[in-house]
Amino acid sequence: MSAAARLNVLCGHLNLQSASSSSTLQQEPCSAPALPPPPACGSLVLIGGMVMDLQAHPAGPSDVHRGGSVPGSVVQSAGGVARNVAEALALLLTSAAGAAGGSGSSTASPPAALPLLVSAVGDDLAGSALLRHWQELGLSTACIARLHGGATPTVAAVFDLAGELAACVADASLLEEQLTPQLLRSPPVAAALAAAPIVMLDGNLSPEALQEACRQAAAAGVPVWFEPVSAPKSVRAAALLHRISFVSPNRQELAAMAAAVRQRQQQHTDRQPCTCRQQPCLCGLQSSISGEQCCTCSQQCSCTAGSCRGSQCAGSCCRTPAYEGQPASSGAGAEPGAQLEDLLRSMLPDIAAVLGAGVQHVVLTLGPDGAALCRLEGDGKAVAVCHMPALPAAVLSCSGAGDCLVAGCLFALARGLPVKAALAHGIAASKAAVESPLNVPALDAAVVMRDAAALLTKQATRLHLPLPSP
Ligand SMILES: Nc1ncnc2c1ncn2[C@@H]1O[C@H](COP(=O)(O)OP(=O)(O)OP(=O)(O)O)[C@@H](O)[C@H]1O
Ligand SMILES: [Mg+2]
Repeated sequence: MSAAARLNVLCGHLNLQSASSSSTLQQEPCSAPALPPPPACGSLVLIGGMVMDLQAHPAGPSDVHRGGSVPGSVVQSAGGVARNVAEALALLLTSAAGAAGGSGSSTASPPAALPLLVSAVGDDLAGSALLRHWQELGLSTACIARLHGGATPTVAAVFDLAGELAACVADASLLEEQLTPQLLRSPPVAAALAAAPIVMLDGNLSPEALQEACRQAAAAGVPVWFEPVSAPKSVRAAALLHRISFVSPNRQELAAMAAAVRQRQQQHTDRQPCTCRQQPCLCGLQSSISGEQCCTCSQQCSCTAGSCRGSQCAGSCCRTPAYEGQPASSGAGAEPGAQLEDLLRSMLPDIAAVLGAGVQHVVLTLGPDGAALCRLEGDGKAVAVCHMPALPAAVLSCSGAGDCLVAGCLFALARGLPVKAALAHGIAASKAAVESPLNVPALDAAVVMRDAAALLTKQATRLHLPLPSP
């Protein structure tokens, strides 16, 4: 599939409306588009963690304490962000294909390619169990490295009687050691990545591996989604945001990423001018700084391409038109949600810092407050935010909610839906996640699509936040 065809699949993604010059919240009715059939293209590729999660809860009445053992339950579950997203995506794709196949329609969609997970485990019991589970789901283990003598990534969490985390040990070192740039360059991985409609990278990857995956994706015109995993790991992509189409941080991860971007900018300011004269300059500082480093500086870009997005461009402006959708229809004015506006306004500097470093969309997850799509306005002087509320849910466990949100978004994006509709699918999938004790519930595409459609017929809140003058 050519890069142009792939980008056509994603055409229409950006449908945030240019709002008025003042800061306003608007409620606008959204239409609920029918889900188009999956395009004939490669598998969505997800690179990152496949982890064994262990959760220990004391049975009581004795609480956990240092130096002693208490009776309780210890539950094992398959986890890891890339693994969770891949499993959720597979469930959505399989159920969608089943529904299409069972409809009796002669125009039934072709079965979508199942997602391909690139990860690593050890040859211990946990690794065997995770791989067996993956095979039982009918998913490929071809790109999951198995290290002889290696310890499968494992997170062991101990909770107290109140249900609060008392202690946790996370061992994910194998991922960084094994998911190397070299492994990502291996023919099966490189070929899958080049043919993918989208690639999702999680923050378990080393900065070097993230850079290599982003390099390959850029060369093949494949959009990248970065899921931060945690605040400490979120900063690993700080130097690569100009090559990333979507990031999906929660509040803490957004703050950490923004801090890392600012730190890089400070270092950049302190750096001596470079004389490399690399052409074409990626950041608009022309020959003052070398290409790869300067394109994250968020300085105004002087690229002359017609669709250049200023500081957002960072050399990828030639791809920008393919992401641009039709502007959303103008929404009817409504009472602003003051609390929501205050919340988002308080995060504006961080949102702006991350967008200013070149990422096209920030998909900000806000727990029970829903999620917001953020992007720079065309002139780079304001941030456009489209907020959707969480769906009412009978919450059992919020673990995996963010991962299911990403899976719902990817499911919709890979079918060519606009970004706003994709977010609705993400929120619908995350509702199913919080209503289940599992990291990944038994997602059903029909239910997710129904809930997303309901969300889209309600009101999305639009917020136009002017950036302070420099
Ligand atoms: N209490 C809730 N009720 C309904 N939906 C919720 C609730 N909590 C979370 N969600 C949904 O899940 C999405 C993701 O949640 P959250 O922002 O907590 O992600 P996260 O911090 O990445 O979580 P995790 O890492 O545990 O998956 C939210 O945007 C929202 O749609
Ligand atoms: Mg998360």
